[in-house]
Amino acid sequence: MGKMFPLEPREVPRVNTKYRKIVTKFPVPQSVKVFEKLRNKEPISMTGQPPVLWHKAVGCQVYDRWGNKWLDWSSGVLVANAGHGRKEVAAAVARQARVPMLHSYCFVNEPRAELVEFLAKLSPPPLKKVFLLTTGAETTECAIKLCRTWGLAKGGKGKLKFVTFNGAFHGRTMGAQLAGGIPALKNWLPDGHPDFVQVDFPGDLRCKDRSFDAFERALKEKGVEPDSVCGVMSETYQGGSAALMPVEFAKALRAWCDKHGVLLVFDEVQAGFGRTGTMFGFEHYGIVPDLMCLGKGISSSLPISALIGREDVMNQYGPGEMTSTHTGNPVCAAAALANLKVIVRDKLHKNAARVGDVLHRGLNEMMKKHPDRIGGVMGKGLVAGMHMVVPGTDLKPDPDLAFNVVRKSAEKGLLFFAPVGFGGATVKIAPPLTITKEQIEDGLQALGEAVDEAIAEIG
Ligand SMILES: Cc1ncc(COP(=O)(O)O)c(C=O)c1O
Repeated sequence: MGKMFPLEPREVPRVNTKYRKIVTKFPVPQSVKVFEKLRNKEPISMTGQPPVLWHKAVGCQVYDRWGNKWLDWSSGVLVANAGHGRKEVAAAVARQARVPMLHSYCFVNEPRAELVEFLAKLSPPPLKKVFLLTTGAETTECAIKLCRTWGLAKGGKGKLKFVTFNGAFHGRTMGAQLAGGIPALKNWLPDGHPDFVQVDFPGDLRCKDRSFDAFERALKEKGVEPDSVCGVMSETYQGGSAALMPVEFAKALRAWCDKHGVLLVFDEVQAGFGRTGTMFGFEHYGIVPDLMCLGKGISSSLPISALIGREDVMNQYGPGEMTSTHTGNPVCAAAALANLKVIVRDKLHKNAARVGDVLHRGLNEMMKKHPDRIGGVMGKGLVAGMHMVVPGTDLKPDPDLAFNVVRKSAEKGLLFFAPVGFGGATVKIAPPLTITKEQIEDGLQALGEAVDEAIAEIG
C-alpha cells in the first residue's frame, strides 16, 4: 500500500532561488479543498502524489496560483520530454482544433499519415511499420498479442510462452499485468497464467547473477523450453529502479531469440525519445528489437502511443482486424509530430546525455556522503533511481526515508512523483530533457538538503 501525503498545511521555510519559490504553507491552505474533493470522489489509488495543485507548467517549471514555483524532476510521469507547455506543441494542438478536425476513427487524416512516416524514419530497420494507439499499456498488450499470434503460426499451441522480468512494469491492463513483474500490483491475478513466465532482471540492484546463463537456468527450472517461447519483453530500463540490463546480457538475449525463433520486444514507453541520452534506449545495447512500445514522451502532452515493428510481425492481421477508436486521433497526432520535430531539431537526447552526466555525478556524491542510506544510484542520461535502504541490512528498502525525501523536496520547490520500485523506496528522477546544467545544480542543492534532513529526522 502506498502512502498518502498529509493535507494539513504546515509552515515550511521560504525558498527563493532562480528556479524554485515557496512563499506559502505546504500544502497551500486554499488548495486543500480541491484535494479533499478528489479524495472524496476518486478511488484511493489516485491519491498518492505530493499535494501540489498545478496551475501552469512551462519548460522545467511548475506553478500554482499562489506564487509558488517548483523545479520539476518528474516530467509529469516521464511525459514532458520536450518540456512542459512546449509552444510548438500547443500551437499544433490549437491549429488542429481550429480546423476543426478533432476525430476521424480509422478514416484517414493527414496528421496520422505524417506521424507514422516520421516515426518510421526515426526507427532503425527492421522497425518500419507503425501502429498508433492511445496509451502505453495498449502497446504492450498489442505486442503480447502479436507475439502469441506469431508463435501460433510458427509452432502452434506449443509456442505461446511469453517471458518477462521480475520487477517489470508494462501497464495496468490485464495482459500488461500478466507480463508485469510486480507482485503487489497483481493481487487480482493470484495464480497468474501458465503462459506468462517471469525471470530475474539482470540489471537489478539486488541481482546476484547477471550472466545470461542465469536467464537460461531460470527458464529450465520453470520447465520452459526455449522453442516454446513466442516472445521476450523487457523495459529497456526498469521504470521502478532505472536499472538497465548489462550490455552483454542484451546481446546474448538477442542471439538467443534469433536462435529459437523468439520475438524480442523492448518496452520503450519510458526510455524512448531521448530519455537515456540516445533517441531509443536500446541503442545502448547495440541491438534492435523486433517490436518496440512507445508512449509518454512521444507527444510531451496528449495521450498517444505507438507500437513499431517488423513488417511480417505487424502485418499478421487483415484489414479492420487490429484498430482502436482513437488510433491516430488528429489532435494527438499533430501534438506528437510537433513534439518529435522539436526533440530531433534540438537534439534533446544529446542534452540528456550531457546534462545527465552532471546529474549522475551529483547523485553519486550524495551516495558517497550517505553510503549506508543510499544503497545505489542507477540510470542513464536524464533518468535516475536513488535507492534508499535501511542501514546495516543487505539493501533492505526504506520506503519511509524515500517518502520523506520526496516530501521535503516538494517543500523546497523540487518536484518528484511519489517513490516507486522495490519496497516503494526509490526516489525517481526524470526532469524534462530541456533542463540546463544550472537547473540540475539548483535541483541537486535542494535534493541534497532534503536527503540530509530526512536522514537526520529518521535517525
Ligand atoms: C515502461 C512502461 N510501460 C508501459 C507503461 C504503461 O503506460 P500507460 O500508463 O500510458 O498505459 C508505463 C507507464 O508508466 C511504463 O512506464
